[in-house]
Amino acid sequence: MQMPDGLPAEIDLSRPSAARVYDYFLGGAHNFEIDRQLAEQIASMTPNLAATMRAGREFLRRAVRVLLDAGIDQFLDIGSGIPTVGNVHEVAQAANPEARIVYVDIDPVAVAHSLELLAGNERATAIRADLREPKLILELARASGLIDFDRPVGILLAGVVHFIPDVDRPGDVLAALRAAAVPGSFLVVSHSTFEDQPKEMLDAQRLSARTDTEITLRSRAEVTDFFGDWTLLEPGVVHMPLWRPDSPADVDEHPERFGAFGGVARYDHAG
Ligand SMILES: C[S@@+](CC[C@H](N)C(=O)[O-])C[C@H]1O[C@@H](n2cnc3c(N)ncnc32)[C@H](O)[C@@H]1O
Repeated sequence: MQMPDGLPAEIDLSRPSAARVYDYFLGGAHNFEIDRQLAEQIASMTPNLAATMRAGREFLRRAVRVLLDAGIDQFLDIGSGIPTVGNVHEVAQAANPEARIVYVDIDPVAVAHSLELLAGNERATAIRADLREPKLILELARASGLIDFDRPVGILLAGVVHFIPDVDRPGDVLAALRAAAVPGSFLVVSHSTFEDQPKEMLDAQRLSARTDTEITLRSRAEVTDFFGDWTLLEPGVVHMPLWRPDSPADVDEHPERFGAFGGVARYDHAG
């Protein structure tokens, strides 16, 4: 297949990609017809989905601010997606110009566009890797020279762990990432759920099977387990809009309709 100019040759344009479908929902320009078709089909079934994705980014932004306030100045953002407005490095470096960010995504389009956007930014980069290989991610993040795992780090897993099926042992993946961090580090997770969801939402989620990255919906208890023995910050693992909203007016009457839980935990010294 002829590749559009400037795109990595390994992109499969015959299948929609989760990152590009997501980019379309967020109003981005980094998507193809095949992605838009799937996005429109999903949107026709769940008109709320675009709002859900925006709510996901809002949750991530609020969580990053809390981490910045706690003094975190280095972020490992895995499943970072295609750069859209309000990226982690923009939020972080606006608050602290010294903040360093390593973006990781499995999708070559996401990584190519991230690198383009980050050109000239010496404190941020993007690498292509699979969350199912946490040791490789940690190695690459170290090799980037931007993340020092001897200091507290913010590990961000927003809207990505649900792409890891149970057979690939997401609990072990999370444990490997937590094990690399020192006390004072933070873990941010948002994750799609079947809890409290209407049937049409669950049907739309099933369409994700058409992308390379099918979604596994999980319960609040399963999402909570991903934080291991780290200390969950208030208000715990909750429907995303309920996690420290900027203002009570921002919280939808039905926060559960955004279909995903969010939570943030800190690694405290044992004993
Ligand atoms: C729904 S988007 C979330 C983007 C961003 N974190 C946010 O919250 O706005 C999920 C991203 O995870 C990426 N992804 C899916 N499976 C992955 C894996 N196994 N390893 C790394 N990234 C993955 C997709 O390519 C996509 O860019």
